[in-house]
Amino acid sequence: MASRIPQSFIDDLLDRTDIVDLVDGHVKLKKTGRNYSACCPFHKEKTPSFSVAPDKQFYYCFGCGAGGNAIGFLMQLANLNFPEAVEELAGKAGLTVPKDDSITSKAASAASQAKTQARNQAYDLLNRASQFYQSQLRRHPERQKAVTYLKGRGLSGQIAQRFGVGYAPTGWQNLMHELAPEKEQEQALIDAGMLVEKEENKRRYDRFRDRIMFPIKDYKGRIIAFGGRVLGDDKPKYLNSPETVVFHKQKELYGLYEARQHERNLKRIMVVEGYMDVVALAQHNINYAVATLGTSTSTFHLERIFKLVSEVVFCFDGDAAGLKAADRAMHTCLSFMEDGRQARFLLLPDGEDPDSLVRQEGNEKLTARITEATPLSDFLFQRLGQDLDPHNLEHRAKLATDASPLIETIPKGIMRSMMQARLSKITGLDKDTLAELSALKAPSTVPISDVNTKTQDSPKKKPAPTIPPGSAQITTHNSADDYSDYRMADINSDTVEDSHHWHHEHYQSSFTTEHSQPSRQHFSATLPKVQNPAQAAIRIILRHPETVEHIHEIPAHLAELKMQDARVLLQLLGAVQAMSKLLKRWPNPAELHIECASWDAWPMLRQLAAMESLLPQGDYPQQLEEAINRLLGHHFEERFNQLLHLVSLPNADATTKQQLKDLIKEKEGLQKRLKSRQ
Ligand code: UTP
Ligand code: MN
Repeated sequence: MASRIPQSFIDDLLDRTDIVDLVDGHVKLKKTGRNYSACCPFHKEKTPSFSVAPDKQFYYCFGCGAGGNAIGFLMQLANLNFPEAVEELAGKAGLTVPKDDSITSKAASAASQAKTQARNQAYDLLNRASQFYQSQLRRHPERQKAVTYLKGRGLSGQIAQRFGVGYAPTGWQNLMHELAPEKEQEQALIDAGMLVEKEENKRRYDRFRDRIMFPIKDYKGRIIAFGGRVLGDDKPKYLNSPETVVFHKQKELYGLYEARQHERNLKRIMVVEGYMDVVALAQHNINYAVATLGTSTSTFHLERIFKLVSEVVFCFDGDAAGLKAADRAMHTCLSFMEDGRQARFLLLPDGEDPDSLVRQEGNEKLTARITEATPLSDFLFQRLGQDLDPHNLEHRAKLATDASPLIETIPKGIMRSMMQARLSKITGLDKDTLAELSALKAPSTVPISDVNTKTQDSPKKKPAPTIPPGSAQITTHNSADDYSDYRMADINSDTVEDSHHWHHEHYQSSFTTEHSQPSRQHFSATLPKVQNPAQAAIRIILRHPETVEHIHEIPAHLAELKMQDARVLLQLLGAVQAMSKLLKRWPNPAELHIECASWDAWPMLRQLAAMESLLPQGDYPQQLEEAINRLLGHHFEERFNQLLHLVSLPNADATTKQQLKDLIKEKEGLQKRLKSRQ
């Protein structure tokens, strides 16, 4: 059984729908006085007799007699029944149609009916308040000082009227007496935000006194709040209505209704900071400016803006606060940047705002600034790359870790691809690596300028080790568990530098690249399995370079292993330690990746780095140590077999035998260690 749609929902739905927008989406409307007109979509005609009244939210055709509200329009236009039309309209408004089939929903509907009533009452009072303020600008005995103020700010009577600018006179109870002659009417005025009640003595008085009044309208033109400016230098400069049933300042844009009244089909919208900016710009015939109401640009704002236009320009003052506002707007804007949309940023010279600048420069020069405003993509790189040197590894890494996650929030499309490509070019990291970085949970948060001061004396970080990169020198440790005094005769001749050359061709042939076949022995992108402890160690280091802190010595003799990954591991260990000396802290993954990006082994490293999700969770330092111990095990094995072979030869000397004895002892120790870890 079909259930009834609650009346309260229908009221709410109609409240959120502007019939002018709805009809305009189907038949192009032209403004004719207070109303809009068009040729009737319901009968054939040459001259328009179809009209839409925004204040009544009704349409009517004088030719065929068709008429109704937004729901009726959809029913008639698309031949829908009532529930279907409601469903359609709710979809447009982002609402879900509830079912009116329970007692609770009846209670809810009663509550929301009360809300609708409260809203209507507020609209009515605020509208009358605005009439009152406007009339005071014409009639009040002290009107002259308000008029002089407005004229001094370069505003004509015409523009003041277009924005409904008024004057709240001096005195504590002007509006109260005007709109609430009876005591019981006062509460509604309090609820609408126009009266203030003092806690202590319950005295009630006008919120706005001796101020220039800017009415704030919603998209249907209903007055929902006010901003009031002092005429002099008193504080606060602007006083705004509080949040009420009809006013949510985070969602509203001052001047949007007026801009659309002026031009229904706006091409672009410019977001500015202040009421006066909007009005002064309109005075100079720039009619597409809107202001946020002392808040930063929200997703609500952008949703509304991009429903109407495909281009937004953010215009902020050139001071620190303006820059901050621009940065925040940029962040919020990214997820809205579908292809075909544009966002640009105009930062004004320090000390200027759009109001002062347009009065100084006039329409043409300011319009030129607006048309040449910095595109979002440039702005992002400008802001994030500020104070960064593209030749500096650490700086490039910071840019990569900062920019990647931001670029990832742009919807898939040309813009995102282009920005990824640009970041790749600057940082030298490929797209996949950047994608990896954007997925990293904890990007470097230390601002570059603070790096030296903050990290150096950070009590949590141990000082970087002093082992030079690629050095085969092993620091001596007396711990019985260590292999620190284990020395091989030819360690020094086969350093990491050499191994770098040695496996050059090896990587070309045996590591999977995007085009080659996965090799059986080695890592394959399609079969993400770690084959040996060297790869396991590499993986950990790439993702958590700071774990190298726990490797007290680099077992450089691992370079003797036939396993080429061991050499890459040594190279990596050396690189991390060298970087940590340079940076005076452990490098973050991005920095390390950039460092390694030029290595022959990079394709393999990158693939290993990409496997983070498969990294066993837990104690990375321990896992790293274990992996290295296993490698040492391999090394012993190789060495052992070799000595065994030598000893078995007829001319075996005493030293070789002793070496084998020593080795066996060492091996027992190692085996114990490996066992104790399991
Ligand atoms: P600004 O301080 O930049 O003022 O505030 P303005 O727009 O240049 O004003 P004029 O030119 O001196 O008249 C920008 C916006 O911040 C909010 C208002 O919305 C204002 O338009 N604001 C500012 C407040 O809400 N309260 C204040 O006291 C100041
Ligand atoms: Mn200003």
